[in-house]
Amino acid sequence: MRAASGSGPFDSPGTATYQHIMRGTFITFEGGEGSGKSTQARLLADYLRASGRTVIETREPGGSPFAERLRGFILDPDLPPHEPISEALLFYAARADHIASVIRPALERGSCVICDRFSDSTRVYQGAAGHLEQTVIDQLETLVVGMMQPDLTFLLDIAPELGLARAKARGAGTDGYEARGVAYHERLRAGFLDLAARHSERFHVLDGGDPKDAIAARVRETVARRLGAA
Ligand code: TMP
Repeated sequence: MRAASGSGPFDSPGTATYQHIMRGTFITFEGGEGSGKSTQARLLADYLRASGRTVIETREPGGSPFAERLRGFILDPDLPPHEPISEALLFYAARADHIASVIRPALERGSCVICDRFSDSTRVYQGAAGHLEQTVIDQLETLVVGMMQPDLTFLLDIAPELGLARAKARGAGTDGYEARGVAYHERLRAGFLDLAARHSERFHVLDGGDPKDAIAARVRETVARRLGAA
């Protein structure tokens, strides 16, 4: 658990309560379509479980019964055109429940939470690529997420052509986001890289085009260093 700037729905970072309650480690995986982030999240979860840690594997949008119902709605390609703010509010509605019912309790128990996408995806998909103002996202972030920020975020960076070809090969491409053009996916990629540069204290950027096992080894090393230091 990392302290966010600004006040959130919980007590302030740095207080005794904050240090005492949040004993777990929150790790997120981010990236464009076909970047391999879901595979890497699963491989890391397997590795940590094998080394005796309690791991909660989860995803966004979704991760709780309520949020999974919203996922089906949000990703429905037949959804009528709607405002970017409406879309962002749906993601944060799902996120609020996911945090309250899954992420926060797991971190309080001292578990390791591995989440396939989190708020960085909103900043990039709805913000950088979707043109929703960053200040609006910042306000939602303060309201809903507060200090429940990831300790570590792995960004799987990949050229959109390669990522989209991979996503297509596995039969994806029906949720509306994957169906958008290469220029849109270039904006996503640039948005993620910009975010990673601005938050280098928690982001680790990996080349999603590298062999799966090589990426997994780098993820394991980084996490082992972080957990060892915890
Ligand atoms: P997935 O394909 O990784 O499961 O993610 C589902 C889609 O949801 C993906 O195209 C990205 C999109 N998304 C957003 O637009 N904003 C968000 O905040 C999240 C979590 C996902």
